[in-house]
Amino acid sequence: MVSENILGLLNEQIKKELHSAYLYKGIEAYFENLGLKGMANWFMVQAQEEMGHAMKFFNYVNEVGGLVQLGTIEAVTSKYKSPLEAMKASLEHERYITASIYKIVDAAIDERDHKTNSFLQWFIDEQVEEEANAEENVRNLELVKDSPNGLFMVNAELAKRVYVPITTPQA
Ligand code: FEO
Repeated sequence: MVSENILGLLNEQIKKELHSAYLYKGIEAYFENLGLKGMANWFMVQAQEEMGHAMKFFNYVNEVGGLVQLGTIEAVTSKYKSPLEAMKASLEHERYITASIYKIVDAAIDERDHKTNSFLQWFIDEQVEEEANAEENVRNLELVKDSPNGLFMVNAELAKRVYVPITTPQA
């Protein structure tokens, strides 16, 4: 079992990961509507990853005998001023998620909850990758600015992304 405090934070994180998936579906819709199908594909895959993250927390709560509680997920937008604005929104969101994971790690360390701390290490590493990917997208769009050719190239690159399911034991 984990403490009520840790359980609350884990349940909050399930909601945040589901909200991430929702946010990225909104960005996917924005890019679909613009006809940038490669970028839409990238966010479709990203949303699938977020569902995987949510399930990983969901399964962990079950494993430690806690009750999963699913809170309300707020509405998200699918309207952005530009592709760059949408990419920046995803980077900002990943930074927020990283901070949220760190908060649970800090609580687990404070409570000497070693198993939760160990479980969260996967997410610490994952967030490094999540932020790096989002930063790369922002950087690429800043480089191409408003060039249609540049946008076309980034779009073609992001079209290649495919979903790879999480394969760790708690997935
Ligand atoms: Fe679940 Fe993108 O962090």
